[in-house]
Amino acid sequence: MQNQLKGILQTAKDKISSTLSTEALEALRVEYLGKKGALTSILRQMGSLSAEERPIVGALANTVRSEIEEAIKNKATELKGAELTQKLQKEKIDITLPSKKVALGTLHPLAQVERELSEIFIAMGFSIVEGPEIEKTYYNFDALNAPADHPSREPSDTFYIGEDILLRTQTSPVQVRAMEQKKPPIRIISPGRVYRCDAVDGTHSPMFHQLEGLVVDKNVTMGDLKGTLDKFAKIYFGENTSTRFRPHNFPFTEPSAEVDVSCFMCGGKGCRLCKGEGWIEILGAGMVHPNVLSASGIDSEVYSGFAFGVGLERVVMIKYGIEDMRYLYENDVRFLKQF
Ligand code: DAH
Repeated sequence: MQNQLKGILQTAKDKISSTLSTEALEALRVEYLGKKGALTSILRQMGSLSAEERPIVGALANTVRSEIEEAIKNKATELKGAELTQKLQKEKIDITLPSKKVALGTLHPLAQVERELSEIFIAMGFSIVEGPEIEKTYYNFDALNAPADHPSREPSDTFYIGEDILLRTQTSPVQVRAMEQKKPPIRIISPGRVYRCDAVDGTHSPMFHQLEGLVVDKNVTMGDLKGTLDKFAKIYFGENTSTRFRPHNFPFTEPSAEVDVSCFMCGGKGCRLCKGEGWIEILGAGMVHPNVLSASGIDSEVYSGFAFGVGLERVVMIKYGIEDMRYLYENDVRFLKQF
């Protein structure tokens, strides 16, 4: 029986040492130490031994058991280590592989220009206000001193939703809303969409964008208007830019002007961009008409103001030399990703 035990220990040790997985090792543990295992079945036969032999065989059996246990324990640690190393190898991430590109969009050129202009005016002390795109005829025309027969009121020019409600044709109605809500001093800009019954072509769209400006205070003069817009033009188009005010007519301003900037491409000599003029028209402006001030509840004897309106599409097209306005609305990525 002692030889049997020694034999078991030897084969157990051999098998354990050549085991390759935790599962196989567990099977060996059952095979040798389990209730129906080789060692147990030997111990069961101890009853047939003599009184002298029994303690010797018992002691040997215990040694065999603990040696097998020890061998299993050591092998288990070894296997765990190996399996972990293998797992780490398998799950290794190659951080040198190029990563997947995250396709980041950019702001639409119109949105960029809107932000750039807004920042310039905010730095001058203006704040941004917004007005509705679905507007009352009163704010879009009446309160802005537009005569009853002004051509822009025609349904052929303006989208009416009802008799008194329309899609605003300009951002100027925000002037009136601002004056109704705030006491002077007022210094606001208002960018947004406007609508007109125009067919789509290279320079027209039934929807486009403007940025309105309004200043109302005591002693606001034409000099303030010129200084403000001249400064704006120099910041936006370059320090060497000059401005030119040409007399014009808007119902809501008196006097009114159209404002040109000297061509930033040729510096005024005349080129393709300015069509040989040396000047590029960029906006309309003027001193707020007394009728507009009083319609909004502001005493035109005490206060005066200036206003201006810029077409954002126009500014984008001039700035980037875009010859057809439709590019701005078609959302062709080949066009948009240039900005
Ligand atoms: N609302 C005018 C337009 O759509 C632009 C404009 C001109 C706005 C003169 C103004 C201004 O505030 O003073 O053509």
